[in-house]
Amino acid sequence: MTAERGLTGARSCLAIVLAAGEGTRMRSDRPKVLHAIAGRSLLAHVLAAVRAAGGTATAVVVGPGADTVADEAARAAPGAEIFVQAERRGTAHAVLAARAALARADDVLVIFGDTPLIRPHTLTRMRAALAQGAAVVVLGFRPKDPSGYGRLVLDGDALVAIREELEASPAERAIGLCNGGLMAFAGRSALAILERIGNANRKNEYYLTDAIAVARAMGEKAVVIETEEDDVRGINTKAQLAETEAVLQQRLRKAAMDAGVTLVAPETVFLSSDTKLGRDVVVEPFVVFGPGVTVEDNAVIRSFSHLDSAHVGKGARVGPYARLRPGARLHEDVHIGNFVEVKEAVIEAGAKANHLSYIGDATVGAGANVGAGTITCNYDGVAKHRTEIGKDAFIGSNSALVAPVKIGDGAYVGSGSVITHDVPSDALAVARGRQAVKEGWARRLRQRKPSANKKTPGK
Ligand code: UD1
Ligand code: CA
Repeated sequence: MTAERGLTGARSCLAIVLAAGEGTRMRSDRPKVLHAIAGRSLLAHVLAAVRAAGGTATAVVVGPGADTVADEAARAAPGAEIFVQAERRGTAHAVLAARAALARADDVLVIFGDTPLIRPHTLTRMRAALAQGAAVVVLGFRPKDPSGYGRLVLDGDALVAIREELEASPAERAIGLCNGGLMAFAGRSALAILERIGNANRKNEYYLTDAIAVARAMGEKAVVIETEEDDVRGINTKAQLAETEAVLQQRLRKAAMDAGVTLVAPETVFLSSDTKLGRDVVVEPFVVFGPGVTVEDNAVIRSFSHLDSAHVGKGARVGPYARLRPGARLHEDVHIGNFVEVKEAVIEAGAKANHLSYIGDATVGAGANVGAGTITCNYDGVAKHRTEIGKDAFIGSNSALVAPVKIGDGAYVGSGSVITHDVPSDALAVARGRQAVKEGWARRLRQRKPSANKKTPGK
């Protein structure tokens, strides 16, 4: 247990996430906080960090009619309360939209919904400062270019004020320490401070940052916790979305390698926040993990594979060029080779589908061999149907298994078959045109038409 955790453990914590942003610079039909990095919305990243920092209650402030944002909040943090800020009148005004939740917590964290890289540890540090008696804690950082940020005005260690750029004097603009935007309030004084904030400034907005001056006038203490820029990186444009994705990918790759995963070329592998990779898993270059993927120990994911909501068992081999779609569950030592797509299918231990196949809505028994080009025809244009392949069955190359259909344990399907009826265990099914051989037919053709089978012109 860290020192900070020790301090904050017994205190209740309300996180207020401001998600009423307009996001117009994204040039998107989607609300800004619903854009995703590493397979998860910006809002869900923030909510996950809050939970990890010991948040006991969550309030999400949304704009009017932002049903999709409210839905995502409910999905990512069941139990989160939604508050609507009817008019955009400033950050303090937005926090007060959640007034009903405010009085109930020892610690109140105020976080912007578009800062997905905030680390739980940073939030815990802010809470620890509250536990040590501060009424307001501001998260400061030193950006390379401070323009646009509120400047932190210090007197010794004490934070005296935050000056928004528009209101700052030239001397204040020269200050390098800036407001990252995140703030924490002691529950006992939060409401009293917020209600005293006015809007006498150039934008006529209720600035949350004025809380510092108000708290000091009330005889309360305000402090700064300094952090690195990535923690408070806010997203306003698609370019910033991509930059933030890059930072997060680096964090995720590093964490995977620290946990014993071999990434041959880490910068080419794309992970989701919830990707779980076991010990000694090897991931070759250019692999993409969508959300919901688990890979157990010693499995190998070869180049150019794409996995999404799939489970890969111990020692299994996937790819190169494999696609595991939602519901693909590979048990131990399964081999899924090049240009094989698996969806909603359980592939039991040691089974193989090594080349050019589609296995959807199916079960493949242990030790079965699915030949090159096998297709489960799971869709009849109206509904999906299941294919069951028994253990140790052998499906000859280029077979079509028309579902619903069952291939028994140990059965054989002849190459090129179109299987429309169940095949009993240990049987052979062949369902294709019979081969006809006409002796001498080609020679007779050439005699009748001397031009047939001529070599390429000019040779
Ligand atoms: C804010 C800080 C600034 C800090 C910067 C860091 C204030 C007054 N200023 O400035 O000191 O350096 O963040 O990025 O807090 N929001 C609402 N309702 C409102 C207004 C804003 O929900 O009425 C939300 C926005 O969606 C956004 C957040 O609050 O998520 C911050 O608002 P924004 O206008 O972007 O503040 P900045 O000017 O960036
Ligand atoms: Ca902003």
